Amino acid sequence: MHRCAARFVEQHWRRSVRWTSSAPGRRKALRSSFPVLDLPVPPAQRHVYQDNVQNSSACSRKFWELSERVRKGGGDSAVTRHTQRNKKLLVRDRLRLLLDDEDYLELSPFAGLGLPYGDIPSAGCLTGVGRINGLWCVFIANDATVKGGTAYPITVKKQLRAQQIAVQNRLPCVYLVDSGGAFLPLQSEIFPDRMHGGRTFYNEAIMSAMKIPQVALVCGSCTAGGAYVPTMAEEAVMVHRIGTIFLGGPPLVKAATGEEVTPEDLGGAKLHSEVSGCVDHFAWEEKEAFLHTRNIISTLNFRLPEEEEEGRREEEEGGRREDEPLQSPEELLGLAPKSFSHSLDVRLIVSRLVDGSRFQEFKSGYGATLVTGFAKVHGHLVGIAASNGELSSEAALKGSHFVQLCDQRDVPLVFLQNTAPTPPETLSTAQSEVNGNRLKALGSMMSAIACASVPKVTVVIGGCHGVDSYSMCGRAFDPNFLYLWPNARVSLTAPGAAGSLLPPAGEQQQEQEEKLNRRLEEESSAFFSSGRLWDDGVILPQDTRKVLRDSLDIIKQQQYQLSTSKSPAAPLRM
Ligand code: COA
Repeated sequence: MHRCAARFVEQHWRRSVRWTSSAPGRRKALRSSFPVLDLPVPPAQRHVYQDNVQNSSACSRKFWELSERVRKGGGDSAVTRHTQRNKKLLVRDRLRLLLDDEDYLELSPFAGLGLPYGDIPSAGCLTGVGRINGLWCVFIANDATVKGGTAYPITVKKQLRAQQIAVQNRLPCVYLVDSGGAFLPLQSEIFPDRMHGGRTFYNEAIMSAMKIPQVALVCGSCTAGGAYVPTMAEEAVMVHRIGTIFLGGPPLVKAATGEEVTPEDLGGAKLHSEVSGCVDHFAWEEKEAFLHTRNIISTLNFRLPEEEEEGRREEEEGGRREDEPLQSPEELLGLAPKSFSHSLDVRLIVSRLVDGSRFQEFKSGYGATLVTGFAKVHGHLVGIAASNGELSSEAALKGSHFVQLCDQRDVPLVFLQNTAPTPPETLSTAQSEVNGNRLKALGSMMSAIACASVPKVTVVIGGCHGVDSYSMCGRAFDPNFLYLWPNARVSLTAPGAAGSLLPPAGEQQQEQEEKLNRRLEEESSAFFSSGRLWDDGVILPQDTRKVLRDSLDIIKQQQYQLSTSKSPAAPLRM
């Protein structure tokens, strides 16, 4: 990679991730005693709460049903072929060997479900962020029980998103490669374009140049394009009789030359570790390969703060931390709005997510439809911007001010998004003036978010509708992570509100409206969105605090890398 090109790409990517100002080391956060939000559910709103609980139960059932489905990978016969005939470990067992524990953040597990070309469980590839020897690393692991681990368009999209997360948060990447290359019937949607398969290799080179470590473990086929994942990694491990790397397999050789050759002789671990030099470590079996990989991670130059690890250990051992929220996180199920009209004061949600339910509200008396303020989540200081109704122009102005404030102070932002289902109507000249002001204010909030270089995490707690969703840091505004609650709805307008988008069309109007509303009902579900990778996964409301903690821990880790040269060096590979 040419250095100038690498520098350009790095600058572009890093524009939104300037967050390395605090040097590592033992430092104490400033003491705080933010006001406590002790907010039980108001009795008068109990019925709304109950409706939400019912809806959340249905959504959670769907969540568990889909989780069960994706855990089965490509199905029983493919699992038997994989484990018994091919003698390989299943992808989740591999992750158990690679990572310190099973407490990892899996990204978009429902990606690939319900696509026009079928159901592709986990998009044929598990991605996420997990700890290896205490260090958060992105993993990208093919599931060869899904059509031989071949890459569908959604697989490529999922891998690219995982790489983007690695870049944005400066996380080492580990690739567990077991893939038959491109899924041939869909080659036109995988191969030729800029953000298609080749981009994975390009990203590997760029990340390497940015000193974001790239490590590969070959534990299955690495055919055609897949062959470049280990060859472009900085360090690669390969398993005897299980891993193969070649551009075309033995059948292709026979067809082309008539020569009969075994996969081992053509591209096995011995050949690549002793003759071609494509890999750096030979392993007799999978377990040994995972040990090599974990040891490679130990050679990376990071120094993690001890006190944070101790705190985590204490918590894992069951010690209750004093700073848990006052009310149970289970109550979030009744606060997750079934629809926009079922939204309760968002402070009830904030109080169940933050340490000690403590919240230092900012501009509480102004622009009431956006709640802004500072809080801590497992000790991480964050700025919270939470929707509390339709974003008015005052709310948007307050939002811009608050985002700039957090940017100024290098405080990460958490957005709790629940945007209104329909755009405001213009019924009079006075109203059009109000709308004009609102547009300007929303535009300024969007600019503030786009230009803020602090990390951002967005959780869609209700609706993600219309342009207002951009002002609350939707996908297009590049938050470091974006999650959906299962009750979330993602669409231009909400189901039932199609009439506001259609021009008057006489008798056909009603028919068109019904058709569009049915479509919106189907397409706006959180699971439809996650199937297409418009987010980083559906999370249960009661898990949000933990997911936020992990996301903030992950984001913060870049401060502990000792060898971060900000100017990219040449990619590391012979
Ligand atoms: N495109 C589409 N489908 C493919 C595929 C590809 N590149 N490679 C494999 N498949 C399908 C097989 O047809 C089979 O489908 P089925 O379950 O509906 O029967 C399934 O994936 C599993 O393949 P199978 O060969 O039965 O499993 P395996 O574990 O023994 O071998 C591979 C897996 C990937 C090693 C082997 O299928 C292979 O070498 N494929 C060709 C790879 C290739 O040349 N790719 C070039 C892409 S540019």
